Amino acid sequence: PHPKIPRPADIYGAERRNSAGFDLSIPEEAARLHHAARALAPLSAGPAAGEAQDVLSPSETGVVVGQVREASVAEIDAAFAAARDAQGAWNALGGFRRAEVLRAMADALEANAERLIAICAREAGKTLADGVAEVREAVDFCRYYAHLAQTKFTGPEILKGPVGEANSLELHGRGVFVCISPWNFPLAIFTGQVAAALAAGNAVLAKPAEQTPLVAAQAVALFHEAGLPPALLALLPGRGDTVGAALTAHPQCDGVAFTGGTDTARRINQTLAARPGPIIPFIAETGGLNGMFVDTTALKEQVVDDVVLSAFGSAGQRCSALRILFLPNDTADLIVETIKGAMDALVIGDPADPAVDVGPVIDEEAREALSAHLQRLEREAKVLHCLAAPEAGTFFGPVLAEIPSAKFLEREVFGPILHVVRYEPSQLPKVARELAGQGYGLTLGVHSRIDAFAQKVRELVPAGNVYVNRSIIGAVVGVQPFGGERLSGTGPKAGGPNSLSRYAIERALSVNI
Ligand code: SER
Repeated sequence: PHPKIPRPADIYGAERRNSAGFDLSIPEEAARLHHAARALAPLSAGPAAGEAQDVLSPSETGVVVGQVREASVAEIDAAFAAARDAQGAWNALGGFRRAEVLRAMADALEANAERLIAICAREAGKTLADGVAEVREAVDFCRYYAHLAQTKFTGPEILKGPVGEANSLELHGRGVFVCISPWNFPLAIFTGQVAAALAAGNAVLAKPAEQTPLVAAQAVALFHEAGLPPALLALLPGRGDTVGAALTAHPQCDGVAFTGGTDTARRINQTLAARPGPIIPFIAETGGLNGMFVDTTALKEQVVDDVVLSAFGSAGQRCSALRILFLPNDTADLIVETIKGAMDALVIGDPADPAVDVGPVIDEEAREALSAHLQRLEREAKVLHCLAAPEAGTFFGPVLAEIPSAKFLEREVFGPILHVVRYEPSQLPKVARELAGQGYGLTLGVHSRIDAFAQKVRELVPAGNVYVNRSIIGAVVGVQPFGGERLSGTGPKAGGPNSLSRYAIERALSVNI
């Protein structure tokens, strides 16, 4: 089914370097990261003046990781004015020079990886392995978008036209982009959005998620240390309904990149539609109701490994995470029993402990929503397995439940709850259409040794990222460009060759010579 599988060198160009990682199986390396997380001094984010709010750790009740100050309307206005003044020169620098700054940022992230992983653990409850992946993805975004800047933003592209005419097309930044990022990838997606907008020649005003401003503040400081003029990137922390609304409604906003829930994306879309002035692009990466279809030829052990990672890795708090597993009646019992065994082996607890597989969910509100959904499953469906979770912090024990069909779930359930739907192979089109009918289109998994089965599932369930015989999480920048369709987002995909298209304007020139 894959006519040509590109190698990373085809995509990044020969000079690309992989981001450096950590080997958590080396006890000294794991211990160093653990110590860095435990020893983290209090942090702060936001303007120097204003009322400070505590940023709480999700894994330890009442423990304050740092403080944040919400941006005021006056600060937002000032940031727009400064960004607008600085953007023209940044755009005029061209892609090669902008790429240098992004590469310096990638190096700075690597040099500060230990500290950033520590903040991800304490502020966002990310396990050390997830923190390592977070830094690597942020580094990869910077290097990948640097590569796109220096291949696509380096002057006019000459286009063939009639004799006697010179035609060309040139890409420019749009102006000031507003980037609104989520708490589940507080460093990687924050950095990825900012790097994309900067690479294309924009200035950026960035609003991190309310729960995770501290690691975002560190990223902004590193961008500035890497040589980015301060006015080109400002951090404006705060709530969505205050700071987010003011940023998106602002007359000086030239584009919005948003990653988060589908409902919030709709609200931003409405704000943009009601705004006076130019019509501006909205890049939204939202939720998923992601399914995996298994047939009787699938390798069962591999299915179980990939299911457990996809559903419970990162405490199920990825938009790519597996929500509904479709099992054929013939092998469903065996696979369910093996999944239960694998769940029992999961270690749930302090995310800074290298042995831990599943950390907390982000906050009390998230835990309450998951508890309410579990109660519904107990009342209206069948809970097959439910793990205990630590009392302190906002932990939620992974759950396995059987539901009659995808129609049971009207919306994304964001956390470690996996639903199973059994099906008779002759009913595959019906059950698959029920999933597609819920309107999302982000990730999709297939486990089968038969190409035609995978092809059939792909035709029945439109999705932005399809994974066959592997997990459905952890898209790699430049290798698996990431993003969905329909209720799951607008595109262009993050970390792909077309990523920068909507961050830019195109200007054509035609000269009669
Ligand atoms: N890009 C992440 C993944 O693939 C989700 O945001 O898991």
